[in-house]
Amino acid sequence: MSYLTDKLRAPSRDARGEITVPGQMLEDVVAANPARRTILRNSIGLSLLSVFGATLTACGSGSDDDDDDAGNGGDNGGTPTPPTTDYTVTFTPLADQITADTVTVPEGYTVEILYSAGDKCMIGSAGYTGIPQSYPTTETQAGGQHDGMHFYPLEGVDANKGGLLVLNHENVDGATLDLSVNETQTNLSNVGVSVIEIARADDGKWSVNTNSRYNKRYTGNTVYNVSGPAAATVGATVVGTLNNCSSGPTPWGTYLTCEETTDNYWDPSQAETGYGWVVEIDPYNPASTATKRTAMGRFDHENTAYMLDDNNRVAFYMGDDGTPGCIYKFVPSKAYDPSNRANNFGLLDEGTLYAARFNDDGSGNWIELTVGKNNLTVGAVDPGNYTQVPVGTLPESSLIDFNSQADVLINTKAAARVAGATLMDRPEWVTVGVDKTIYCTLTNNSSRRRTSAANPRTQNLHGHIVRWKESGDSPLATTFQWDLLLLAGFDASVGEAENVTGNINGDTFSSPDGLRVDPQGRLWVQTDSGATGFGNNSMYYIDQETGESKRFLVGPADCEITGIAYSPDLTAFFINIQHPGGVWNTVRAEGGDARSATIVVRRADGRPVGA
Ligand code: FEO
Ligand code: CA
Ligand code: CA
Repeated sequence: MSYLTDKLRAPSRDARGEITVPGQMLEDVVAANPARRTILRNSIGLSLLSVFGATLTACGSGSDDDDDDAGNGGDNGGTPTPPTTDYTVTFTPLADQITADTVTVPEGYTVEILYSAGDKCMIGSAGYTGIPQSYPTTETQAGGQHDGMHFYPLEGVDANKGGLLVLNHENVDGATLDLSVNETQTNLSNVGVSVIEIARADDGKWSVNTNSRYNKRYTGNTVYNVSGPAAATVGATVVGTLNNCSSGPTPWGTYLTCEETTDNYWDPSQAETGYGWVVEIDPYNPASTATKRTAMGRFDHENTAYMLDDNNRVAFYMGDDGTPGCIYKFVPSKAYDPSNRANNFGLLDEGTLYAARFNDDGSGNWIELTVGKNNLTVGAVDPGNYTQVPVGTLPESSLIDFNSQADVLINTKAAARVAGATLMDRPEWVTVGVDKTIYCTLTNNSSRRRTSAANPRTQNLHGHIVRWKESGDSPLATTFQWDLLLLAGFDASVGEAENVTGNINGDTFSSPDGLRVDPQGRLWVQTDSGATGFGNNSMYYIDQETGESKRFLVGPADCEITGIAYSPDLTAFFINIQHPGGVWNTVRAEGGDARSATIVVRRADGRPVGA
């Protein structure tokens, strides 16, 4: 979570005591073989059938009028991307300690603002013009604090010239809101998810099609279905999603938005068990109701990333951004069905949830969180967050009854501790690389008092990145091998204390958070740090072999950099600037309303970003 969100949650807490696998997603198909672009341009519908399943055609081309394609002009020609097969990173890294109140990128790159808090989203919505607004006006416009994000191709549209961008709103952009009217609903309308159709003009510039029927807000006031083993306990429906931090795609083209809170601190009248879930949204079907998938566990969900095998068995990896928290994976019982999209909509309701144990010798185990196994029984002893107290002492343990799988899922954090999973330094994003190496950012844990090999620093102020390989590169594996990619923090030459000194080879940073391996296998890391000495929050390319870090982008004052997505040809990177606090992207003449925004970063010469 961002430090602002943490602050917002504090009273409630106190009161309560893609990558994707090559060859599977459209972006991978295109990126792995640029020649396919022509094929896709000529037979996009057929290609989408093979990617997302046969029923996509039906849901994407319903009987509505066809204004969904209005922004794309029906011309899929235009400026071709210069041919390239070399995605080797060539940009000149940015300098240390940049604190400019703007988005700084390497020479030859451009930055454009695409979608800011308060902008028009749904057809007919009013855009923010500098005067704070209230619910219901706010319900159909962009939310605040943009976070996780993913790009989806559209039937009939060249995916490098248009598609759907789906993004999370982790919290409110308060300066754009008038809370004197409908205070609770106004706050809740500013969180959740935006689905927007975007298109690239012939000059390369991307914009939102505000007349698209796909455009939709899912907010804290929306009703969600609940499914899976805990549905009977939680209830058939829940009002609101909240703290939509990061997210991840599924192989069948849905969007998993992750709730990074287990309570509704804006509206405590809502069911206590209704939050902290993964919520599945079908961006291609605006008429559909999103569903909270309880089988994937309830905790401070950060994001999801999946791995698929040759038999279409899939695992979803997930971090719990708790202080501390565990790393999980969910393996659906059934295989993904690429031939019939509709067959996949219950896939996340039945399967096995595991939590990771990172053994000190570099091996790892996935521990099954199933009632009756691994001490998950009535009268189980929850050891508490023992990493946060000094060696030689223990926190107060407590008894917890796991009578059913619903009990395990509703109390997933406790279940993982009982079962012996490793308490990590705030797991943030997980990503699955092209070579099936899995990475997870552990952003920081300043209150850690005892170490493990996977969390080697007490008072870990700057965080680290862990990576692992599943045995046999299988999503079904129950064992893995891990190591640390890097420890963030100051360079050793600075001479700081051990807990704030890292081993980064190149440009240093603190508090890694967003990360993603792009379809060309390049690892990008984004930061959310309040530490001084590193400049504004930034985005880096990291060489996975050498650990060499190159600073690619620096954000404006007081922001967090998050939410990386891209067009399939990688010529456009969509990046989120969360809670800027200076004068960048303000509307009011007198300032004070700097807005969170999705930006587009691309090269002036039209070549792929980074290369
Ligand atoms: Fe919302 Fe853990 O970042
Ligand atoms: Ca964070
Ligand atoms: Ca985050």
